[in-house]
This record gives sequence, structure tokens and C-alpha cells, in this order.
Amino acid sequence: MKYLMSILLSIGLAGAAGAALADSPILIRFSHVVAPDAPKGKAAEFFARRAEVLTGGRVRVEVYANSTLYADREEMEALQLGAVQMLAPSLAKFSVLGASAFELFDLPYIFEDRHALRAVTEGEIGERLLRMLEPRGIKGLAFWDNGFKSLSANTPIRRPEDLAGKRMRIQSSRVIEEQMLALGAVPHMMAFSDVYEALRVGVVDGTENPHSNLYTQRMHEVQRYLTLTEHGYLGYAVIVNKRFWDSLPRGVRRQLERAMREATNYANQIAREENQAALAAIRAAGTTEVIELTPEERAAFRRALLPVHRSAASRIGEELLRDVYRATGFVPDGGG
Ligand code: LMR
Repeated sequence: MKYLMSILLSIGLAGAAGAALADSPILIRFSHVVAPDAPKGKAAEFFARRAEVLTGGRVRVEVYANSTLYADREEMEALQLGAVQMLAPSLAKFSVLGASAFELFDLPYIFEDRHALRAVTEGEIGERLLRMLEPRGIKGLAFWDNGFKSLSANTPIRRPEDLAGKRMRIQSSRVIEEQMLALGAVPHMMAFSDVYEALRVGVVDGTENPHSNLYTQRMHEVQRYLTLTEHGYLGYAVIVNKRFWDSLPRGVRRQLERAMREATNYANQIAREENQAALAAIRAAGTTEVIELTPEERAAFRRALLPVHRSAASRIGEELLRDVYRATGFVPDGGG
């Protein structure tokens, strides 16, 4: 209720400010939940700088990192209501909008590498997915990378059985919920902003994320083990309030599109290195033992997790999923 009030208040204030200062710059509030030095945080700042330069100061972008404005679910509502103009939620969080096709990105092992990922995000399927947001008052602008996920916990994880009964924090994705259940774990959906504290006090035993997110939220300080499973992917869609976007002067919109293309190239260039650097920093911190799996151990995770594809197919859409398999080269029943 409190945040709904704050949304309504900020819409009111923005409207009043707009009327009073017709010549002031167009303001884009870009809210996100990660640290400013995480890949998404850096890309958001990059976009802000380029948007201001390319529009000659006609647009000002205010970036709010670390859920300082809104946490996960709230930020989606704030965008639809127009209290913020731009977000880049992880692809796992789009099913709260009823866009469950986005769950395809969470399917275990769906992308062998970034090349397979790009075949989806930079092709017709990516466009189709972004178009699905329009009836919800949202315009999709781009896909930004983060990386492949590892599992962390306070006990060593080498085999699926090691997760039996472990309470694992997850994002709001049915696929990820089913993935944890397939491993025998107990999934707990929770906003990203609450994860560090939940791990610290033991509300949950572990979690999953790319290394850049784990490190920049200092989760390694409260997790004794990190297993390099690379069992799934985490990336983002950059989205704007459609009414706001459509109301922009055409020239401004064109420059913002250019700024977004540049920011997307930047985001997708830095993500891999940022994750490698974060893993090196976690190792150097000495708080967390990094576990590398043998090929046999990897195969055991794969066997445990692949059935999740079948249970998710009806939500994602059989036809869309077939197209994704074709684009990525994933073979559903042949070990991928
Ligand atoms: C999470 O909620 O675990 C992350 O996906 C947050 C983010 O936006 O990277």
C-alpha cells in the first residue's frame, strides 16, 4: 500500500512539474535492482550518458540502482502506471505480467553459449517476445546480457542430491521453481533486494545467480560454497512505458534508439568479462570455496533438470518452444 501511494504521489508530482516547466528536459527515470557496478548497472549509466549527449540535453536520464526506488514486483507496476519510464528486469520476472513465454530463457541448459542466445534475442523470436508486451502498455527496446548462473549454499553442492531439502531463493519464475523442485530443493520466491539479508540470517540456505550479481551484492560473504554449474541463463529486457515512448518527439525517439543500440553493444560486450572478474574476486575474498564439477557431475545435473523443459512447454507455447530449439540447436531428448 505504501509503495502504491508513493507511485501515485510521484505520478502526480511528475505531472505537476511537467506542466510548470514545459521547457525543462524530458525526464526518464530508469529504475533497477542491481548494484551500479553490476553489468546492468553499468549499462544503464552508459545509456543515460549517451541519451543526454545524443539528444543535446533534451532528455535527462536518472538511474536508480539497488532497488532504491522500487523492488522487483513494484517496479513493473510503477512502469505500467508511468511512475518510472524505463526498467531492465531480468527475463525471469516477466511472467508477473502474464508474459509466460519469457520463461523460455530460464529453461535449464537451453543456451549452449552466447551464440545460441543471440540466435533468439537478435532474431525474429526476440522481436516476437518484445511485441507480446505491447498490449500490457510496455514497449520492449532491447535484450541485455548478464550470464550463466552458478549455485551457492552454505554446504557443498556437487550432486543434485546435495540440494535435497535446501531452501533456495529464486526469482518469480515457474520454470526456476520447477527446476529447484526437480533438484529436491525447496524454492522461495523473494525480491532481489531481500536476498543478502535472507542468506545472512538463514531464512534461505542458498541461491543462484551469475557471479557478477553474487559478488556486487556481497552474497559470497554469507555463502560458504559456490558451484560452477552454469545450469541456466540470466539476462534482461530493457522496457519503457509505451504511452511515454509514443509521446516523444520523433527526433528524440530516434536518438534514444541510437543510445539504446550503443548501450546494448556495451552491455553485451562487458557482461562476460564482468562475470569472470567477479568470480576471480570471489576466489580472492577467501570466504567462499569454489567448486568445479567433473563432466560426470555436470551430466548428473543435466539429467535431473532436463525434464523441466517438458513441464514448461505448455506455458511457453509448444510452437514458440520448437522455434527456440531450432534457433539454438538444442535437442530436447538427446542430451541437448
Ligand atoms: C535476481 O533477482 O536474482 C536478479 O536477476 C536481479 C537482476 O536484475 O539481475
